[in-house]
Amino acid sequence: NAASKSLISSSTQLLAVIGDPIRQSKSPLMHNAALQACHWDGVYTAFQVSSEQLEQAIEGMRALGFRGMNVTIPHKEQVIHYLDQLDESASASGAVNTIVNDNGTLIGYNTDGLGYVRSLKEESGVDVSSASILIIGAGGAARGIAYALLREGCRKLYVANRTKERAFQLAEDLAEFGAVIPIGIDEGIPDLNPDEVNVVIQTTSVGMHPNVDDSPVASSWLRQPMVVSDIIYNPLRTKLLQSAEQLGATVHEGLGMFVYQGAIAFELWTQQPAPTVLMRQTVYDTLG
Ligand code: ATR
Repeated sequence: NAASKSLISSSTQLLAVIGDPIRQSKSPLMHNAALQACHWDGVYTAFQVSSEQLEQAIEGMRALGFRGMNVTIPHKEQVIHYLDQLDESASASGAVNTIVNDNGTLIGYNTDGLGYVRSLKEESGVDVSSASILIIGAGGAARGIAYALLREGCRKLYVANRTKERAFQLAEDLAEFGAVIPIGIDEGIPDLNPDEVNVVIQTTSVGMHPNVDDSPVASSWLRQPMVVSDIIYNPLRTKLLQSAEQLGATVHEGLGMFVYQGAIAFELWTQQPAPTVLMRQTVYDTLG
């Protein structure tokens, strides 16, 4: 019956997110809602783990037979050292956000970039294979998204970064997956004709709470036919997205990236399709 189904038993599978800090994480609520909706016998919790104890935490996960974990700030890079295998998504981006325990073998994945690209397709209807895309920023988030876009056969991909050398480095590191064209950006003006660009993806921390009046792209450079996207979801409507909206451009909010990185992780662990609408609503309801 329904009551006994919701109980934790000796066969319940274990999932968790580890990070430091962790109490702000929306992942437990989102995943437990999804697990219950799919009647998958599992539970998802959160652990605050310091860098000094990361290795022991991973060994603990292994010893206790956890089915999987999410890994968040500041452990996404360091955790690689303690895993048995890396999926290409993790090796290409140099970071892991999802671990799958495959019968004792710990495999690292990065679902951030893949999740972002899926949200762009499913929520904003972007056809990546025919799009010319500009990524703003060349840090870890940009790298994961660039990898996923190249894997999806993006028609043309530009990366603009304040420090231009980092854009060149990103292009070099991802060259085996396809061409990335590094460009400069000065005072918010990318060194590129805006009419050449269909989609702009903002991946820096510029505009994040509490600096909500900042934008890394000048509104004068934006065009109405563009899809303008920001991976920041605090606030949901960044300054950049507000400017884009005023022009009549299509905007794509950062919440989708969070929901879909979780959806892909959920599918890796449970081998079932993720209830993405429910997951999105669960997270949305917790936002202030
Ligand atoms: P993440 O892993 O979250 O992407 P990161 O690796 O620290 O973080 O990268 C931060 C990105 O935001 C970089 O592209 C950075 O540009 P620089 O390489 O020039 O530092 C960009 N960034 C951060 N603050 C910025 C600012 N005030 N103006 C423009 N770009 C900024």
